[in-house]
Amino acid sequence: MLNPDANSSDKVCAALKMPRHVAIIMDGNGRWAQQRNKLRTFGHKAGVEAVRSSVTFARKKGIKSLTLFAFSSENWQRPKQEVGVLMDLFHFVLKSEVKKLHKNNIRLKVIGDLSGFDVKLQEKISAAEALTANNDALVLNIAANYGGRWDIVNAAKCLASSVASGDIGLDDITEAAFDKHISTHEFPELDLLIRTGGDHRVSNFLLWQCAYAEFYFTETLWPDFNESVFQTAIDDFAQRQRRFGLTGEQIMTAEVEPKAC
Ligand code: FPP
Repeated sequence: MLNPDANSSDKVCAALKMPRHVAIIMDGNGRWAQQRNKLRTFGHKAGVEAVRSSVTFARKKGIKSLTLFAFSSENWQRPKQEVGVLMDLFHFVLKSEVKKLHKNNIRLKVIGDLSGFDVKLQEKISAAEALTANNDALVLNIAANYGGRWDIVNAAKCLASSVASGDIGLDDITEAAFDKHISTHEFPELDLLIRTGGDHRVSNFLLWQCAYAEFYFTETLWPDFNESVFQTAIDDFAQRQRRFGLTGEQIMTAEVEPKAC
Protein backbone atom coordinates (compact mmCIF):
# COMPACT_ATOMS: atom_id res chain seq x y z
CA MET A 1 0.00 0.00 0.00
CA LEU A 2 1.08 3.53 -0.62
CA ASN A 3 1.87 6.24 1.85
CA PRO A 4 -1.37 8.31 1.86
CA ASP A 5 0.69 11.51 2.23
CA ALA A 6 2.69 10.83 -0.94
CA ASN A 7 2.09 13.09 -3.95
CA SER A 8 1.14 11.64 -7.34
CA SER A 9 4.70 11.40 -8.72
CA ASP A 10 5.80 9.63 -5.49
CA LYS A 11 2.94 7.18 -5.98
CA VAL A 12 3.96 6.43 -9.57
CA CYS A 13 7.58 5.85 -8.47
CA ALA A 14 6.50 3.58 -5.62
CA ALA A 15 4.14 1.59 -7.82
CA LEU A 16 6.85 1.08 -10.44
CA LYS A 17 9.49 0.52 -7.73
CA MET A 18 11.46 3.25 -9.40
CA PRO A 19 13.95 5.14 -7.20
CA ARG A 20 13.19 8.83 -6.85
CA HIS A 21 16.73 9.77 -5.85
CA VAL A 22 19.77 7.97 -7.27
CA ALA A 23 23.38 8.82 -6.43
CA ILE A 24 26.43 7.55 -8.29
CA ILE A 25 30.08 7.22 -7.28
CA MET A 26 31.63 7.49 -10.75
CA ASP A 27 34.75 5.39 -10.22
CA GLY A 28 37.16 3.78 -12.66
CA ASN A 29 38.12 6.61 -15.03
CA GLY A 30 41.84 6.24 -14.32
CA ARG A 31 41.89 2.44 -14.81
CA TRP A 32 39.79 2.77 -17.99
CA ALA A 33 42.43 5.11 -19.45
CA GLN A 34 45.38 3.04 -18.22
CA GLN A 35 43.90 -0.08 -19.88
CA ARG A 36 44.21 1.90 -23.13
CA ASN A 37 47.76 3.08 -22.37
CA LYS A 38 46.51 6.64 -21.95
CA LEU A 39 46.88 9.19 -19.18
CA ARG A 40 44.33 8.95 -16.34
CA THR A 41 42.89 12.31 -17.42
CA PHE A 42 41.81 10.74 -20.73
CA GLY A 43 39.45 8.62 -18.61
CA HIS A 44 37.96 11.68 -16.89
CA LYS A 45 37.28 13.26 -20.30
CA ALA A 46 35.67 10.03 -21.51
CA GLY A 47 33.61 10.00 -18.31
CA VAL A 48 31.75 13.14 -19.39
CA GLU A 49 29.90 11.10 -22.07
CA ALA A 50 28.78 8.63 -19.38
CA VAL A 51 27.50 11.60 -17.34
CA ARG A 52 25.43 12.77 -20.35
CA SER A 53 24.00 9.32 -20.89
CA SER A 54 23.04 8.89 -17.21
CA VAL A 55 21.33 12.27 -17.11
CA THR A 56 19.34 11.47 -20.27
CA PHE A 57 18.38 8.08 -18.87
CA ALA A 58 17.38 9.45 -15.44
CA ARG A 59 15.14 12.06 -17.07
CA LYS A 60 13.56 9.51 -19.38
CA LYS A 61 12.81 7.18 -16.45
CA GLY A 62 11.23 9.90 -14.31
CA ILE A 63 13.89 9.77 -11.58
CA LYS A 64 13.51 13.05 -9.67
CA SER A 65 17.09 13.59 -8.41
CA LEU A 66 20.44 12.32 -9.67
CA THR A 67 23.45 13.09 -7.46
CA LEU A 68 26.88 12.51 -9.03
CA PHE A 69 30.13 12.44 -7.05
CA ALA A 70 32.39 14.50 -9.31
CA PHE A 71 35.12 15.62 -6.92
CA SER A 72 35.62 14.68 -3.29
CA SER A 73 37.19 16.86 -0.62
CA GLU A 74 40.07 14.33 -0.66
CA ASN A 75 40.60 14.57 -4.45
CA TRP A 76 42.69 17.78 -4.01
CA GLN A 77 45.52 15.46 -2.93
CA ARG A 78 45.77 13.94 -6.43
CA PRO A 79 48.63 15.02 -8.74
CA LYS A 80 48.38 18.72 -9.57
CA GLN A 81 48.01 18.08 -13.29
CA GLU A 82 45.05 15.71 -12.72
CA VAL A 83 43.31 18.20 -10.42
CA GLY A 84 43.89 20.91 -13.08
CA VAL A 85 42.27 18.77 -15.79
CA LEU A 86 39.27 18.04 -13.54
CA MET A 87 38.82 21.79 -12.87
CA ASP A 88 39.07 22.50 -16.63
CA LEU A 89 36.44 19.80 -17.21
CA PHE A 90 34.04 21.46 -14.74
CA HIS A 91 34.49 24.78 -16.57
CA PHE A 92 33.97 23.03 -19.91
CA VAL A 93 30.88 21.10 -18.80
CA LEU A 94 29.29 24.22 -17.30
CA LYS A 95 29.88 26.08 -20.56
CA SER A 96 28.83 23.34 -22.96
CA GLU A 97 25.96 21.57 -21.17
CA VAL A 98 23.94 24.10 -19.18
CA LYS A 99 21.81 25.30 -22.12
CA LYS A 100 20.97 21.69 -22.98
CA LEU A 101 20.03 20.97 -19.38
CA HIS A 102 17.79 24.05 -19.34
CA LYS A 103 16.15 23.11 -22.64
CA ASN A 104 15.33 19.72 -21.15
CA ASN A 105 13.76 21.24 -18.02
CA ILE A 106 16.60 19.94 -15.80
CA ARG A 107 17.69 21.86 -12.73
CA LEU A 108 21.41 21.94 -11.97
CA LYS A 109 22.56 22.10 -8.38
CA VAL A 110 26.09 21.84 -7.02
CA ILE A 111 26.63 20.61 -3.45
CA GLY A 112 29.89 20.78 -1.52
CA ASP A 113 32.25 23.41 -0.15
CA LEU A 114 32.28 25.69 -3.19
CA SER A 115 34.57 28.20 -1.45
CA GLY A 116 37.43 25.85 -2.41
CA PHE A 117 36.98 26.64 -6.11
CA ASP A 118 38.30 29.62 -8.05
CA VAL A 119 35.96 32.61 -8.20
CA LYS A 120 35.23 32.18 -11.93
CA LEU A 121 34.05 28.61 -11.37
CA GLN A 122 31.92 29.73 -8.43
CA GLU A 123 30.33 32.40 -10.63
CA LYS A 124 29.61 29.92 -13.43
CA ILE A 125 28.02 27.54 -10.92
CA SER A 126 25.80 30.32 -9.48
CA ALA A 127 24.75 31.43 -12.98
CA ALA A 128 23.89 27.85 -14.02
CA GLU A 129 21.93 27.25 -10.82
CA ALA A 130 20.03 30.52 -11.27
CA LEU A 131 19.20 29.83 -14.93
CA THR A 132 17.83 26.35 -14.22
CA ALA A 133 16.31 27.05 -10.78
CA ASN A 134 12.67 26.58 -11.83
CA ASN A 135 13.14 23.42 -13.88
CA ASP A 136 11.43 20.39 -12.46
CA ALA A 137 11.83 17.34 -14.71
CA LEU A 138 15.00 16.25 -12.88
CA VAL A 139 17.50 17.76 -10.45
CA LEU A 140 21.08 17.03 -11.45
CA ASN A 141 23.08 17.41 -8.27
CA ILE A 142 26.82 17.59 -8.76
CA ALA A 143 28.81 16.87 -5.59
CA ALA A 144 32.04 18.85 -5.91
CA ASN A 145 34.59 19.41 -3.16
CA TYR A 146 32.07 17.34 -1.26
CA GLY A 147 32.55 15.04 1.72
CA GLY A 148 29.86 13.31 3.74
CA ARG A 149 31.60 14.24 7.00
CA TRP A 150 31.82 17.87 5.84
CA ASP A 151 28.06 17.81 5.19
CA ILE A 152 27.34 16.50 8.71
CA VAL A 153 29.76 18.91 10.41
CA ASN A 154 28.23 21.78 8.45
CA ALA A 155 24.72 20.85 9.65
CA ALA A 156 26.02 20.51 13.24
CA LYS A 157 27.60 23.99 13.05
CA CYS A 158 24.34 25.56 11.81
CA LEU A 159 22.35 24.00 14.64
CA ALA A 160 25.03 24.82 17.24
CA SER A 161 24.96 28.45 16.15
CA SER A 162 21.15 28.55 16.47
CA VAL A 163 21.43 27.10 19.99
CA ALA A 164 24.18 29.58 20.90
CA SER A 165 22.07 32.52 19.71
CA GLY A 166 19.08 31.21 21.67
CA ASP A 167 16.93 30.75 18.54
CA ILE A 168 16.42 27.08 19.39
CA GLY A 169 16.99 24.91 22.45
CA LEU A 170 19.00 21.71 22.76
CA ASP A 171 15.81 19.65 22.63
CA ASP A 172 14.99 21.14 19.22
CA ILE A 173 17.93 19.21 17.75
CA THR A 174 16.06 16.29 16.26
CA GLU A 175 16.83 14.13 13.23
CA ALA A 176 14.32 16.16 11.23
CA ALA A 177 15.89 19.47 12.30
CA PHE A 178 19.37 18.15 11.48
CA ASP A 179 18.21 16.91 8.10
CA LYS A 180 17.04 20.42 7.15
CA HIS A 181 20.71 21.55 7.19
CA ILE A 182 22.04 18.66 5.10
CA SER A 183 22.96 19.69 1.55
CA THR A 184 20.35 17.48 -0.14
CA HIS A 185 17.49 18.41 2.24
CA GLU A 186 15.20 19.68 -0.51
CA PHE A 187 15.42 16.45 -2.53
CA PRO A 188 13.76 13.08 -1.94
CA GLU A 189 15.38 10.57 0.45
CA LEU A 190 18.25 8.75 -1.20
CA ASP A 191 16.87 5.47 -2.56
CA LEU A 192 19.75 3.97 -4.52
CA LEU A 193 23.51 4.45 -4.42
CA ILE A 194 25.41 3.04 -7.39
CA ARG A 195 29.18 2.67 -7.39
CA THR A 196 31.04 1.77 -10.57
CA GLY A 197 34.62 0.49 -10.79
CA GLY A 198 34.38 -2.64 -8.64
CA ASP A 199 35.13 -1.30 -5.16
CA HIS A 200 32.61 -1.79 -2.36
CA ARG A 201 32.87 1.32 -0.21
CA VAL A 202 31.17 4.67 0.34
CA SER A 203 34.31 6.87 0.22
CA ASN A 204 32.88 9.65 2.39
CA PHE A 205 29.97 10.25 -0.03
CA LEU A 206 26.42 10.87 1.23
CA LEU A 207 26.96 9.44 4.73
CA TRP A 208 23.85 10.91 6.39
CA GLN A 209 21.71 10.22 3.32
CA CYS A 210 22.79 6.55 3.03
CA ALA A 211 20.87 5.55 6.19
CA TYR A 212 18.27 3.54 4.29
CA ALA A 213 19.60 3.67 0.73
CA GLU A 214 20.02 0.49 -1.29
CA PHE A 215 23.54 -0.07 -2.63
CA TYR A 216 24.42 -1.38 -6.08
CA PHE A 217 28.02 -2.14 -7.03
CA THR A 218 29.16 -2.86 -10.56
CA GLU A 219 32.55 -3.80 -12.02
CA THR A 220 31.81 -1.50 -14.99
CA LEU A 221 34.34 1.34 -15.16
CA TRP A 222 32.65 4.75 -15.26
CA PRO A 223 33.38 5.63 -18.93
CA ASP A 224 31.65 2.34 -19.94
CA PHE A 225 28.56 3.10 -17.81
CA ASN A 226 25.53 3.41 -20.10
CA GLU A 227 21.74 3.11 -20.16
CA SER A 228 21.89 -0.67 -20.10
CA VAL A 229 24.03 -0.82 -16.92
CA PHE A 230 21.84 1.88 -15.33
CA GLN A 231 18.72 -0.15 -16.21
CA THR A 232 20.27 -3.28 -14.64
CA ALA A 233 20.81 -1.32 -11.40
CA ILE A 234 17.19 -0.10 -11.47
CA ASP A 235 15.91 -3.64 -12.12
CA ASP A 236 17.98 -4.91 -9.20
CA PHE A 237 16.58 -2.14 -6.96
CA ALA A 238 13.01 -3.08 -7.98
CA GLN A 239 13.57 -6.65 -6.70
CA ARG A 240 14.57 -5.55 -3.21
CA GLN A 241 12.32 -5.52 -0.20
CA ARG A 242 13.06 -2.32 1.72
CA ARG A 243 12.18 -2.91 5.33
CA PHE A 244 13.32 0.27 7.12
CA GLY A 245 13.81 -1.65 10.36
CA LEU A 246 10.49 -3.51 10.17
CA THR A 247 10.11 -7.23 9.56
CA GLY A 248 9.35 -8.68 6.14
CA GLU A 249 5.91 -9.78 7.41
CA GLN A 250 5.09 -6.29 8.65
CA ILE A 251 5.99 -4.86 5.25
CA MET A 252 3.87 -7.42 3.39
CA THR A 253 0.78 -6.79 5.53
CA ALA A 254 1.23 -3.06 6.22
CA GLU A 255 -1.69 -0.75 5.52
CA VAL A 256 0.75 2.03 4.74
CA GLU A 257 4.40 2.01 3.74
CA PRO A 258 6.93 2.91 6.44
CA LYS A 259 7.56 6.66 6.65
CA ALA A 260 11.06 6.60 5.16
CA CYS A 261 9.57 5.39 1.82
C1 FPP B 1 36.94 8.65 -10.12
O1 FPP B 1 37.69 7.79 -10.96
C2 FPP B 1 36.47 9.82 -10.86
C3 FPP B 1 36.69 11.12 -10.51
C4 FPP B 1 37.46 11.51 -9.32
C5 FPP B 1 36.21 12.25 -11.34
C6 FPP B 1 34.87 12.10 -11.99
C7 FPP B 1 34.72 13.15 -13.05
C8 FPP B 1 34.07 12.99 -14.21
C9 FPP B 1 33.31 11.77 -14.55
C10 FPP B 1 34.10 14.05 -15.26
C11 FPP B 1 33.46 15.33 -14.90
C12 FPP B 1 32.06 15.24 -14.47
C13 FPP B 1 31.26 16.30 -14.22
C14 FPP B 1 29.90 16.05 -13.70
C15 FPP B 1 31.66 17.69 -14.44
P1 FPP B 1 39.20 7.48 -10.58
O2 FPP B 1 40.07 8.54 -11.18
O3 FPP B 1 39.33 7.34 -9.10
O4 FPP B 1 39.45 6.11 -11.29
P2 FPP B 1 40.39 4.90 -10.78
O5 FPP B 1 39.70 4.33 -9.57
O6 FPP B 1 40.38 3.98 -11.95
O7 FPP B 1 41.73 5.48 -10.49
